[in-house]
Amino acid sequence: MLSMNKMRFSAILSMVLFAATVYSQKAGDNGISVSEKAKIDALINAMTLEEKVGQLSLYQADWDVTGPILNTNHLNLIKEGKAGAIFNAYTVDGVRHLQQMAVEESRLKIPLIFGYDVIHGHRTIFPIPLAQSCSWNLSAIEQTERIAAREATAEGLNWTFAPMVDISRDPRWGRVAEGAGEDTWLGCKVAAARVRGFQGTDYKAGNTLMACTKHFAAYGAPQAGREYGTVDMSMISLYEWYLPPFRACVDAGVGSLMTAFNEIAGVPSTANKWLMTDLLRKDWGFHGFVVTDYTSINEMVDHGNAENIKDAARLAFNAGVDMDMEGSAFLDYLPGLLKEKKVTLQDIDHAVRLILEAKTKLGLFDDPYRYCNKSRQEKEVMTAENLDFARKMVSESCVLLKNPDQVLPISENVRSIAIIGPLGDSKKDMLGNWTAAGNWEKCITLVEGIKSRVKDEVEVYYEKGCNTNDNDRSGFDAAVKIAEKADFVVLAMGENGWMSGEASSRSSIGIPGVQNELAEIIIKTGKPVALVLFNGRPLVITKMAALPLAILETWFGGTQAGNGIADVLFGVVNPAGKITMTFPRNEGQIPIFYNGKNTGRPLNPADSSDRYLSRYLDCPNDPLFPFGYGLSYTKFTYSNLRTTVDGNKINVAVQVANSGNRDGEEVVQLYVRDKVGSVTRPVKELKGFQKVLIKKGETKTITFNLTTDDLAFYHPDLKKYWEPGEFVVFVGTNSAETLSESITVK
Ligand code: NOJ
Repeated sequence: MLSMNKMRFSAILSMVLFAATVYSQKAGDNGISVSEKAKIDALINAMTLEEKVGQLSLYQADWDVTGPILNTNHLNLIKEGKAGAIFNAYTVDGVRHLQQMAVEESRLKIPLIFGYDVIHGHRTIFPIPLAQSCSWNLSAIEQTERIAAREATAEGLNWTFAPMVDISRDPRWGRVAEGAGEDTWLGCKVAAARVRGFQGTDYKAGNTLMACTKHFAAYGAPQAGREYGTVDMSMISLYEWYLPPFRACVDAGVGSLMTAFNEIAGVPSTANKWLMTDLLRKDWGFHGFVVTDYTSINEMVDHGNAENIKDAARLAFNAGVDMDMEGSAFLDYLPGLLKEKKVTLQDIDHAVRLILEAKTKLGLFDDPYRYCNKSRQEKEVMTAENLDFARKMVSESCVLLKNPDQVLPISENVRSIAIIGPLGDSKKDMLGNWTAAGNWEKCITLVEGIKSRVKDEVEVYYEKGCNTNDNDRSGFDAAVKIAEKADFVVLAMGENGWMSGEASSRSSIGIPGVQNELAEIIIKTGKPVALVLFNGRPLVITKMAALPLAILETWFGGTQAGNGIADVLFGVVNPAGKITMTFPRNEGQIPIFYNGKNTGRPLNPADSSDRYLSRYLDCPNDPLFPFGYGLSYTKFTYSNLRTTVDGNKINVAVQVANSGNRDGEEVVQLYVRDKVGSVTRPVKELKGFQKVLIKKGETKTITFNLTTDDLAFYHPDLKKYWEPGEFVVFVGTNSAETLSESITVK
């Protein structure tokens, strides 16, 4: 049977190669050589229409569930040549099994691409992406994706649905966990670093993944923060704040893009021709392919821009979608639409070409099993080196939010520690959302991390005290008992791992359940207390922050969570993370972000006599913790800000002294305000940062070199250029505490 197939395959291949020899054209700038292009042309010539639309179809396998399952027939579809790619299947054996069906049983033997949501690690799970962004360490972020790519490709995968680069100013939206926070400038740097990490310089290398930047576009701005919600905004806002990270990925060579579920101004992204064709391909020069999000073609019927799925398929395809995820809309309707002349064969062939080009670049035509290497799977997954790096990433992602009386780090003299709270010993919660192939049983909890960090003679007690999200107070007494007998209390509280991520919007973003109440009771014991916060979004912790305790924001740290957090709690690592999303005082302040506009009636916090100003009656305008905020166990003092303008260059220098008593890293942040713009400018915009190690007692001069290009902004004609005039340069430890100087740039 196999040899019959092989014979048929070689007959088809020689037809294909014959056709290839008559084709000669210069390869484009899409990384495809002349001979590769010829093979693709020949293959397209050999394909039936059904096989062509098959290449444009992506189906889930049943190893993981990441959306509503519409199709349970992927095995037959593969054999019939009606699937171009598969997602949610991994491991060498699992992938080999499916790939074998494609290359041995389908007529043209075209190999499949294997995709998966490798969002913050594959088996070794790193902190959630939002946490990683708080490290402000771009090379470390790139390295997490390098490791993720090595592990995933050792288990059959070659495509990841990441990075998610959606900017969001609304912490009610659960998917802020997957992004890099609220700032566009930083978001661009992180986005490009992730693409570089996944794809390396060549995704034919065999251990790199093709990335898929998502969700195009503005998915992070749903009304009221509700998942899958409507997006409506000005074109200037879209260009200025939401699109640049996508552009950064395209410039970094990303191989694919995913559409967003949302509409923008009445047009679902999956049907937006302007977005996918005019902007993405014509303006930005994107050469890869566009895949829909999960069934987002079918969902247009509910959006209300298509009468039925057939019409939705027409709209999506003609707008520039190349591959349909899970919905079967292309497979079922493109042939009929072609007959009715509602789509063209030329466009179908073009989309097929993009998919075949991706397969070529991944080396799948050379060897369809190149990602199915047992010895790599055994040797390269969850190595000691990967776990060490994950541990380092956990401690780099932690943000010290409060530390009254230097409660932290925990002193060496402490002889007993009580760990209290539902997240202290819960392995399952450590991975957070999008756990990929991560095994929660291998996670290190806070209890385990602390136990392995302290000396044998130190007693470590643990009580859960309560659950994350109900009203059960029956564990309070036991919790108080261990607090009373301990020298130090660590509270492990926050959201559970499933309260953020996809489909996890919350209208109240406090610490859920009765955890606040338990914390208040524990504080009454008079013991020194540090709260270790676990969460996938900024929370409203105003009440908690008013208590006399230290707060260490740790997000969801992944496989090595407990070890990395313990490193910070005991001062082995001096925390240097800075939040990349503003923490509001209450939900009424949302959306809240540091780079808002001044308004015509800005609040003067020093003068409360004027009622008619832009403010709340019941709450200050400023947040609980501003963007860029985070403390250290040492103290940094800023002085001598000097800014010089020389032609189109703006040079900034500042002195930063470590005036505390231990070495530490500081993220020195540079912001600019354009005082007068023909389009009003934000009160501050991040334009640079440096993460520097400053030894105790040392002073470093930190310099930044901007050019006038850095001052450019979008105008009503959607062109980006700068306008001469007065600017304010700010440098500081966060977006609110800065030194500043005015300059004139002509
Ligand atoms: C839906 C999500 O929005 C998307 O981010 C993800 O990649 C797909 N499901 C596939 O799991």
